[in-house]
Amino acid sequence: MIALGCDHGGYNLMVAIKKYLNKNNIEYKDFGTDSTESVDYPVYAYKVAKAVTEGGCELGILCCGTGIGISMAANKVKGVRAAVVNNEFGAEMTRRHNHANILCMGGRVINEDQAVKFTDIFLNTPEEGDRHDKRVAMITAIENGTFKG
Ligand code: RB5
Repeated sequence: MIALGCDHGGYNLMVAIKKYLNKNNIEYKDFGTDSTESVDYPVYAYKVAKAVTEGGCELGILCCGTGIGISMAANKVKGVRAAVVNNEFGAEMTRRHNHANILCMGGRVINEDQAVKFTDIFLNTPEEGDRHDKRVAMITAIENGTFKG
């Protein structure tokens, strides 16, 4: 199950992403927004972050104007690793190396085709273990206040 959220700046990307998910029979929970009317992106970041960390969704996708504000808000929730992605390489590597659990994109930065492509890569790329497990554990330790440096 994929958790989806966006503000008005990311709404057009999310329409295209939902079309892709429907076509590929990928289940999702849509937390809105549902139009281009101005809303506050932290509201949607928080809903998706909670759905991923506590609500049984494996991964999340968030879109705003830049992808930046909505990722900042999501990353404040414990257990979230939200990554802003602007290219195919980033979409792949943030899954492989950072074990990102939320993909963030900007509707004023990329177009719908790119958003669908990055989503496809993100959802189909596995996490790599070994040294990457160790580094992701360090991120978690920073989050928990147990990191020794
Ligand atoms: C909304 O105008 C805009 O600030 C928002 O979509 C996003 O880009 C924030 O980072």
